Amino acid sequence: MIDQLKEHIKEVKEFTTTSKEHIESFRIKFLGKKGILNHYFAEFKQVPNDQKKEFGKTINELKELATEKVNSLKNNLEAKGGEKLIYGDLTRPGESLELGARHPISIVKNQIIDIFSRIGFNVSEGPEIEDDWHNFTALNLPEHHPARDMQDTFFIQTNPDLLLRTHTSSVQVRYMESNTPPIRTISPGRVYRNEAISARSHCFFHQVEGLYIDKNVSFADLKQTLQFFTTELFGKSKIRLRPSYFPFTEPSAEVDVYWGLETETDYKMTKGTGWLEIMGCGMVDPNVLDNCGIDSNVYSGFAFGMGIDRIALLLHQISDIRLLSENDLRFLEQFKSAF
Ligand code: DAH
Repeated sequence: MIDQLKEHIKEVKEFTTTSKEHIESFRIKFLGKKGILNHYFAEFKQVPNDQKKEFGKTINELKELATEKVNSLKNNLEAKGGEKLIYGDLTRPGESLELGARHPISIVKNQIIDIFSRIGFNVSEGPEIEDDWHNFTALNLPEHHPARDMQDTFFIQTNPDLLLRTHTSSVQVRYMESNTPPIRTISPGRVYRNEAISARSHCFFHQVEGLYIDKNVSFADLKQTLQFFTTELFGKSKIRLRPSYFPFTEPSAEVDVYWGLETETDYKMTKGTGWLEIMGCGMVDPNVLDNCGIDSNVYSGFAFGMGIDRIALLLHQISDIRLLSENDLRFLEQFKSAF
């Protein structure tokens, strides 16, 4: 009898089907009232005593296996049938797609690129780890020049010639070295300065550099270009250029845009003047052109540089620059509707 039971165990193990009816007839055959298992349970009394233990064990094993088999075949069938139901139901509400959000720095950067590309500027990039020549020397900032102190530099310890670029003006140099005029390019990117971190300043931030080189480029061209830019980005066309100093431009100027004094925020942002400083600019110093292999007797040009972070704070009324690098989803998700 034990051998017969073992045969049944083999049969149960090998049995498989995807038909509901076959599962049911399998269940009746083994587990039904008049099924195989009950038949053997009834035989139990007749089993000689010395075989009872093994018989009991085997019949229990058969019962467990048969029950498990029925359950797992039923489960399989339900899972498949369930799938069919879900995809078959066309009235089922759609699954909502979670939209990501662009980072405010990217949003503003793209806006700036968009504006300048409309007037013929292309986009160029350079490395964040820069050498002394491209970040300083070629830009008319030779060693020991006092203006180097204006930009607290992170140097690479193992190589005194390498540093984290302090401004994107380094890309100007690279672009002029490998292109010939006419040049119209803007260079967005991250820059680094060894500054204390606060709500207003950070040790890394972002800039966009602009460069225009051709024959007969004048200061008037610079002013027109900047005015176009402020009108497009801020909707404000009133600007003023204050004389300033940068080693790489001559003459140099600081650009203010007239923000207005209509609201209390305007007062706060402009410290009651109505004017906001937004960038530095100037006519590219002939020395810089010559350093970069462009003949300053033939060509002239202008350059400008602005901080993207400050503009992002301004446009989106963000009160603390640190929010831009903390990756707090509660902050970042607020930019979902922007692009
Ligand atoms: N590189 C300057 C800075 O980081 C910004 C700047 C000023 C760039 C005047 C220019 C320029 O190209 O002409 O503060």
